[in-house]
Amino acid sequence: MPTTGTFPAFPAFPAFPAAADAPAEALPGAEVRYGTVLLPDQLRPGQLPRPRGPLSAFVTDALRRPASSDLGPAPPPADDVLCGEDGALALYCLYELHYRGFAGVDERWEWAPSLLTLRHRLEEELEDLVRREAETVPMPACDPRAGDCIPAALRAVIAGPSGPSVSAYLAEQGSLEQFREFAILRSPLQLKEADPHSWAIPRLTGPAKAALVEIQADEYGNGTARDVHQNLFGVTMLGLGLDAGYGAYLDRVPGAALASVNLASFFGLHRRLRGALVGHLAVFEMTSVEPMAAYGAALRRHGLPAGARHFFSVHVVADAHHQTLAAEALAGNLVRGEPQLGADVLLGARAIMAVEGRWSARVLAAWRDGRSALLPSAGPPDEAPPDEAPPDADRSDADQSDDFPRE
Ligand SMILES: [Fe+2]
Ligand SMILES: [Fe+2]
Repeated sequence: MPTTGTFPAFPAFPAFPAAADAPAEALPGAEVRYGTVLLPDQLRPGQLPRPRGPLSAFVTDALRRPASSDLGPAPPPADDVLCGEDGALALYCLYELHYRGFAGVDERWEWAPSLLTLRHRLEEELEDLVRREAETVPMPACDPRAGDCIPAALRAVIAGPSGPSVSAYLAEQGSLEQFREFAILRSPLQLKEADPHSWAIPRLTGPAKAALVEIQADEYGNGTARDVHQNLFGVTMLGLGLDAGYGAYLDRVPGAALASVNLASFFGLHRRLRGALVGHLAVFEMTSVEPMAAYGAALRRHGLPAGARHFFSVHVVADAHHQTLAAEALAGNLVRGEPQLGADVLLGARAIMAVEGRWSARVLAAWRDGRSALLPSAGPPDEAPPDEAPPDADRSDADQSDDFPRE
């Protein structure tokens, strides 16, 4: 399998204290109930993260100042912009300006030509890496310009080799502390769940647009704040005794996990890549039901109440419908209307399969080595653990599974 350049190994970081799963009554969030709505303090922009190298230091330093058209030359990242620490974090910060931004950061930075120029430069490298990464997932035998064939092609992409299953691990043997780590790793993605895909709404037309809006309406709770999926994930974090504040754990989330968010933002912020964004969303919806059931089962095993599990229960039901909507009504109709986008639909699907497979392999490799999958709580990693398995070895893990966490 080709790699995407430099992939810094996860840092050697001691695992959380031993996995003596606490009974439900001892859990800090045991009282969390369905219907909880995150508070304004939890919803507002997070703090700028600590830098992880020269480029992320350059970006975060700039964002502490008033927006400026003259930044001077940016240093190259210490690693790659897809799964590296410095590169992926710098890109994440640039993309975040288009979501909620960061506390105290001048909102005019969003459209400052200086940072847009830097983002463009990074995205040129990112696109090359994404296309190479997507090629690690077999291309289905189909005519990508044929809308009628797209649903089957997406199913073929999903049915191919993938990373090991984090959801199965957590359901069967993972500790409560490992589930907390999983929630932290997913928090940058899930606390903005659905937002990157909403970029596609004004860019689609006709039946494909209608299908996307139907999916997104569910993702946003059909107008009810307590049911917004972002909110439900926050409630799960509260149930796990975690901070549900937006961006609260950004410093702990490795680049391999930020890659999933950056990928959606990259596709979402470029109209020319609307096909890839649809393929990305289709894979999320089509690979959700089994993992979500497994995560819910894991939390039940650890004694968490129904309110804390609701995020996963909702997805088991909703995505049984969304998976068909996404494949047939969204992706199929998009390509029927714009056949030239079919190749990009499959690009987006194959890219997220590859990126998610790499993420899940790294998480499980850390846990099985008795390490945390998070970055250390203070400072960037100093060095790689000596026994870090190479990414290719991760991909051949014996317990590969077709399912892994999506949304
Ligand atoms: Fe969702
Ligand atoms: Fe969904």
